[in-house]
Amino acid sequence: MPIPFIDLKSQYDLYKNEILHEINKVLDSSQFIMGSQVDVLEQSLAKYVQAKYSIACSSGTDALLVALLALDIKKDDEIITTPFTFIATAEVISLLGAKPVFVDIDENTYNIDENKIEEKINHKTKAIMPVSLYGQCSNMDKINEIASKHGIFVIEDGAQSFGATYKGKKSCALSQIGCTSFFPSKPLGCYGDGGAIFCDDEKLMKKIKMIINHGQEQRYKHDVVGINGRLDALQAAVLNVKLKYFDQELKKRQEIAKRYDENLQDIVQTPILGEDNTHVYAQYTIQVDNRDEFCDNLKQFNIPTAVHYPIPLHLQNVFKYLGYKKGDFPISEKIANRVLSLPMSPFLTKEHQDLVIEAIRKVLS
Ligand SMILES: Cc1ncc(COP(=O)(O)O)c(C=O)c1O
Repeated sequence: MPIPFIDLKSQYDLYKNEILHEINKVLDSSQFIMGSQVDVLEQSLAKYVQAKYSIACSSGTDALLVALLALDIKKDDEIITTPFTFIATAEVISLLGAKPVFVDIDENTYNIDENKIEEKINHKTKAIMPVSLYGQCSNMDKINEIASKHGIFVIEDGAQSFGATYKGKKSCALSQIGCTSFFPSKPLGCYGDGGAIFCDDEKLMKKIKMIINHGQEQRYKHDVVGINGRLDALQAAVLNVKLKYFDQELKKRQEIAKRYDENLQDIVQTPILGEDNTHVYAQYTIQVDNRDEFCDNLKQFNIPTAVHYPIPLHLQNVFKYLGYKKGDFPISEKIANRVLSLPMSPFLTKEHQDLVIEAIRKVLS
């Protein structure tokens, strides 16, 4: 069997009976939108991250969009974020006519450099949106402290870090709003698109619930502009099963990462864990010289790899209008040329781990 980059098939085989049972319950009930599966999921998610409220929604992207809408972000507002992330983080800011203001990253964690945030804050700044990239959080205490000093919000983009902890507290419960994604390849993934928003404020929760449902609390009575951002019941059914096994899976991810660390850290830059963090390894990402040539060589050993992300956002065509140029965020640019993610999932066998390690050692010998 070829080495899978992410092994969703083995996971499905393991939970198949339970998942099909829950899916059948939804089909029998004909309750496809919202309903008890979604209610149960929201309660379990809130309990899991220790947030007061969890609102399930249609994707990680919509979670971020809805968070911004709930905080009344509008045209010409500025939101500080990182240029080294998936496009969705900054895309939703632009969609609202607000301006993504980028801050370079920390060379070790690849997350926003908290020491460079304050110089970008002005009267238009409304929020900071740190991204917990690859599965570990930013320095959230410092970011929250800066935000509260300036009276602005913090929205954590925890699309890749569900289950990770910072100072013992779970990602997505570390600031006013936390957002995550249940895209199939995420550590906790469903079988389509899905996401969730977390907060502790009841008023905010009610507004978020309205926004994901066309701005209505009562049917056909619309009080704010919203979207169709609900999670469907079939996805909730899948997540309700997978959540039960999630911590076991995280443990396996961490064991595989440890094995990669021990066998690769003498020849490549392996992930560096922030001292206050645990990591969920949504991606196990190394740094190498001559990355593209290295990838081609690994291909000859049938090792699948991926680059997250080859072009930082300030150099993407879509953000040309922001006026950034090459050299503006040197660490992001350097790291974008060097990173490479290795096969990672709780079901990656020991044999496959060994093949990855041996191939890397051969290519670099
Ligand atoms: C950092 C980050 N933010 C947002 C998203 C968007 O999530 P979704 O694909 O569920 O819309 C992703 C998904 O890859 C992501 O990695």
